[in-house]
Amino acid sequence: MTSDELDIHTREPAKERIAPSSAFVEQANIRDSSLYDTFEREWPTVWNRAAEHVHWDSPYDHVFDEQTREWFVGGELNAAVNCLDRHLDEQKNQRALVWEGLFDEQRTFTYLELTREVEAFAAALRELGVEEGDVVTLHMPMVPELPIAMLACARIGAVHSVVYVGFSADSLTTRMAESGSELLVTCDGYYQRGGAVSLKNKTDRACLGLEWDVTTVVVDRLGEAYEYALGPNDFDYKTLREDHYGTEVEPVARAATDTLFLIYTSGTTGKPKRVTQTTGGYLSYVTWTSHATLDLKPSDTYWCTADIGWITGHSYLVYGPLSIGATVVLHEGRPEYPSKTRLWEVIERNAVDILYTSPSTIRTLMKRGESYIDEYDTSSLRLLGTVGEPINPRVWRWYYEAVGNGECPVVDTWWQTETGGHLITTLPGVTDMKPGAAGPPLPGISASVVDASGESVDPGEGGYLVIDKPWPGMPQELVDSTRWASQEGGLPNTDGWQYVTEDGALVDEDGYVTILGRVDDVIKVSGYRFGSMELESAIVAVEGVAEAAVVTGTHDGHERGLYAYVCLEDTYERTKRIRKAIHESIERVVGPFARPDAIIFTPELPKTSSGKIVRRVLTDLANGNDLGDTSSLRNPEIVGELESITREN
Ligand code: WT7
Repeated sequence: MTSDELDIHTREPAKERIAPSSAFVEQANIRDSSLYDTFEREWPTVWNRAAEHVHWDSPYDHVFDEQTREWFVGGELNAAVNCLDRHLDEQKNQRALVWEGLFDEQRTFTYLELTREVEAFAAALRELGVEEGDVVTLHMPMVPELPIAMLACARIGAVHSVVYVGFSADSLTTRMAESGSELLVTCDGYYQRGGAVSLKNKTDRACLGLEWDVTTVVVDRLGEAYEYALGPNDFDYKTLREDHYGTEVEPVARAATDTLFLIYTSGTTGKPKRVTQTTGGYLSYVTWTSHATLDLKPSDTYWCTADIGWITGHSYLVYGPLSIGATVVLHEGRPEYPSKTRLWEVIERNAVDILYTSPSTIRTLMKRGESYIDEYDTSSLRLLGTVGEPINPRVWRWYYEAVGNGECPVVDTWWQTETGGHLITTLPGVTDMKPGAAGPPLPGISASVVDASGESVDPGEGGYLVIDKPWPGMPQELVDSTRWASQEGGLPNTDGWQYVTEDGALVDEDGYVTILGRVDDVIKVSGYRFGSMELESAIVAVEGVAEAAVVTGTHDGHERGLYAYVCLEDTYERTKRIRKAIHESIERVVGPFARPDAIIFTPELPKTSSGKIVRRVLTDLANGNDLGDTSSLRNPEIVGELESITREN
């Protein structure tokens, strides 16, 4: 298949092979390469091995029900018990959570202390009328009360829906409306890049947009810096905590197939895409992959720099590592703020064993150079992980050598909000690494790369990445795999179950998968995921805008960013006012984190003869790439003009 058909760039398969150091292999949780065969031979019952990593209140009858496609049917468990109570016998005084606040404040919670906090808030939620199965929305920055609230929900069988704190009031309303949520936990505000941002005003506005009354619990993060009045439906977190501290809250046994949480992500439509995770399958899967991929042990101090508002934070900051019983670092801001040495400082202070971060963070740190690392002791590191977007081999190398000293394996973990946990990555103590390729599918995961008619492509050729077999971390929506397929019934020529990931990929002769990027209208930038439709409709909503297309670009060596190509109606001129209105509209509809880095006005967008916008041409322009043959466009003459317009920006 050609890159034109896929509408993305293809890359060379990774060539270099690097074996993990023997020091790492000797202590690795998984050392046995026969695991790949075992999982293939004994699928699906072999998934017992994941379930063995969690505590069940009552055992399941079946590992996998082929009819309903549900995991661990008949079993009962509680996720909060797995993340807290079960560690109390042996680890009650071990630190569960270390919070690194922006202003050099630290708050630590041992497993016992965290359990008590969770029980207090669980009792408070009950008092506020929350019952098993109710949806509680959490719209909070990175403070300890966020994981506490998640686990409090889990303890009483309520379903949490965390909405990333950067989202706008409109986005919060849409998500609360979709889930029917009547209880919201938030903060008065938070600190971002030094300044205080208020949240309470925003959540009040969001609640006004709902057809029902919402009860709001407010955590005071800003202290005296920001005073606010509690309304009749508002409750102060601290007061609730004091009232309920010391109350024992019996955990609710949940069926394996019961919902643990909802999370919304961006799809191809303007509407948020709902992902529903189950208690048994999800918890088993994230615990198992934390053990297998991240090599996590209860004695480890572990830092994942993702925000809890995204799936990475759910799976590999809260549920996976706490279920393992590790010490988790929770960092308030972005890992490169407030100082350029912040990341190294936090690693040194906490003697972090395992670091899990994103290529965009690694790129930022790389630009700042190695001398900053040398001032800090990062020798505690044992394993490095990356997630969120393809990592280029040069950046991979830097991570491996400058950060990991050539001794820590790097796991390049491919997965999605829709998959719940890692699907494609090396096993760090077993499989060699190939910089630039995520790795082979994990044991038990069956992935292939196919063309538009559903046939497997040859090694090294680009195509659509599909997952052929269910796995325990799959959400409820994937029970019926056609739900999320771009075409009705999935790709042609497939019988049986298949999940179309909407990523382009290639597989090499050794079965290693190189991810090429999204093949749908979803955009990834700085780890954030946007539907181009949601951004474009926010732009087109501005008076005077006729058409818009949003792509990502890295022009002239700048950091990857969002490029909005905008056509105005004939009677309008490009003005500062329109630019400002576009920014405001995006902030209102999505949130400030979605502001485009460049707004480029153009008389026309490149189109096919049938009138479809050709994004690849825009992506090439925004990246300063060679454009190749554009003669098949309906308006090839626009390309030259677009080139000079883009360069001027
Ligand atoms: C999309 C999913 C997975 C949790 C965080 C992002 C891209 C993710 C990798 C990787 C290349 C990657 C894909 C995927 N992606 N990990 N290791 N290499 N690309 O979750 O926001 O749902 O985004 O992120 O394009 O489809 P998400």
